[in-house]
Amino acid sequence: MGVFPAFGLILSFLLFAVSAEEDVILITPPAGEVIPPCIADGYLGSYGRPLQQVFVLPLECALGSRGFLDFLNDSKDFVPFSPSEGERTLVWLQEAGVDDIVRGTADSFDARLDRALKYATTELAYLIRNGEDGFLDRQIVFGPRGRGTLESKPGLEVLHRSPSSALISVDSLHLSHLDIILPPFIVPIALPSKPQPLVPVPAIAIKRIYALLKSLRFNPEIASILSTFSLPSMESDIRHLTGEDGLGILSRHSFSKGARVAADWIQSKFEETGALCRQSPFLSGYAPNVICRYAGTSNTTALVLLSAHYDSRGSFGSTRAPGANDDGSGITHLLAIARAIKENGIQFRSNVELVAFAGEEQGLLGSAAYARELKALDANITLMIQADMLAFHSPSEPLQIGFPDLIGLPEAAWLVANVSNIYSPELTIGITPACCSDHQSFNNQGFPSTQVFERAGPILDPMYHNSGDVSDRVGYDLQQVRSIAKATFATVLVAAGFDGKRDP
Ligand SMILES: *[C@@H]1O[C@H](CO)[C@@H](O)[C@H](O)[C@H]1NC(C)=O
Ligand SMILES: *[C@@H]1O[C@H](CO)[C@@H](O)[C@H](O)[C@H]1NC(C)=O
Ligand SMILES: *[C@@H]1O[C@H](CO)[C@@H](O)[C@H](O)[C@H]1NC(C)=O
Ligand SMILES: *[C@@H]1O[C@H](CO)[C@@H](O)[C@H](O)[C@H]1NC(C)=O
Ligand SMILES: [Zn+2]
Repeated sequence: MGVFPAFGLILSFLLFAVSAEEDVILITPPAGEVIPPCIADGYLGSYGRPLQQVFVLPLECALGSRGFLDFLNDSKDFVPFSPSEGERTLVWLQEAGVDDIVRGTADSFDARLDRALKYATTELAYLIRNGEDGFLDRQIVFGPRGRGTLESKPGLEVLHRSPSSALISVDSLHLSHLDIILPPFIVPIALPSKPQPLVPVPAIAIKRIYALLKSLRFNPEIASILSTFSLPSMESDIRHLTGEDGLGILSRHSFSKGARVAADWIQSKFEETGALCRQSPFLSGYAPNVICRYAGTSNTTALVLLSAHYDSRGSFGSTRAPGANDDGSGITHLLAIARAIKENGIQFRSNVELVAFAGEEQGLLGSAAYARELKALDANITLMIQADMLAFHSPSEPLQIGFPDLIGLPEAAWLVANVSNIYSPELTIGITPACCSDHQSFNNQGFPSTQVFERAGPILDPMYHNSGDVSDRVGYDLQQVRSIAKATFATVLVAAGFDGKRDP
């Protein structure tokens, strides 16, 4: 630095000029393998329905890639973008994938998104004018309310719109408020602040899943392990997570005191079963991820992950965010599996992690951080399964398990579905448009991942993102949670390999 100060100055000025004024964001349907390297280098992930790839690139790269951009025709969108390191976050908005009955309006998504963007813009402007004190942010009972004083910058800018999505830029300070200025059926997904490699799931990882599929057959030992799941324990867990047991967790909103109480409690429950746990903070103010590991017995880097999110959201203006279904059901399913690991003295051959994410409701933030961390470590992930909303089905419907129609590796879903057929034949298998859970963060990093959901269809839970999401209500069915837990746990046993010590 000391040797050529003048040159350094000029260089940084140039870099500043280019990066501050001449970047563009490219939004395009997946274009296949012909993407020029300078575009691929700016990959920010895949989002939306239909699926879109998002890239940030220097103008220079855009100018040099005319042929490719012409090839994309009118399917692409270009947005000028002035990045300011860390100060603003790009957020994708799309529909949650709910049933018409739950939505309660015949309006198009396009029209609802228009209204939501107007409302969110006004609310953020209010927040900026009046500070946080005047803001009706009551889901966050007793806890810190996000970060610091708010500054006078445009709160929310719409960069891109399609009938089914929006790409917005928000002051990063406001990220924590997104879930309370957006209506329940519009979900945010925060884009990474830096590009990541555009890597598909490696062929070798897919081959491994095919090998598992091929060797799949009924194993009486697995069936016997699965028979140890206990509904009363699951009921006690969910009633604690929701505060229905009267022991104090009113909200598990990412910023609430209740979320931190829940994190400690979840950690202690996992630790009782022999896991090694850590709480991993990912953003200031948010409750941490709880990451629990059962070390494999064979000398391997292979890792199987099973996860859910423990943060929740309630109705606007309510202090309650019990999240019995979303996603207390996924956490309850993890806890039941942890108990079965202990009760059956299971020793996995590969490493297995049970992970409880936070920050899901503000844009998959906890899982994005952990997936990035694992990518940086070049983690050898055999399979990642996210369990989000497992408990609700209409009383007139059979027990079900749904797999994502768009996001994730199809082969990963096939594996869980085939295992489900063997060990949870009571579950009707199907696909769901229910959108956007933590497996998307892993999918964006090229890890083999999928999700399990409560229905072979869209979200039908009338208490979705509502303070009425308790476990004691019609349609909330722990038997379905147990059946899905049998399918995911059997998949983990198959994918990780195990020795059942059957300790007394
Ligand atoms: C753009 O149009 C050309 C000519 O019609 C077609 O060959 C090409 O496949 C189109 N590109 C995309 C991405 O649809
Ligand atoms: C584990 O595997 C690594 C790499 O294959 C090897 O270097 C190491 O010696 C092995 N450790 C043991 C205890 O077998
Ligand atoms: C990753 O795990 C597989 C087992 O699933 C193993 O065969 C392979 O050697 C591991 N790769 C690395 C780089 O450790
Ligand atoms: C079971 O796996 C096969 C591939 O081996 C796949 O074609 C099939 O769709 C899977 N079954 C289900 C219900 O997903
Ligand atoms: Zn959820």
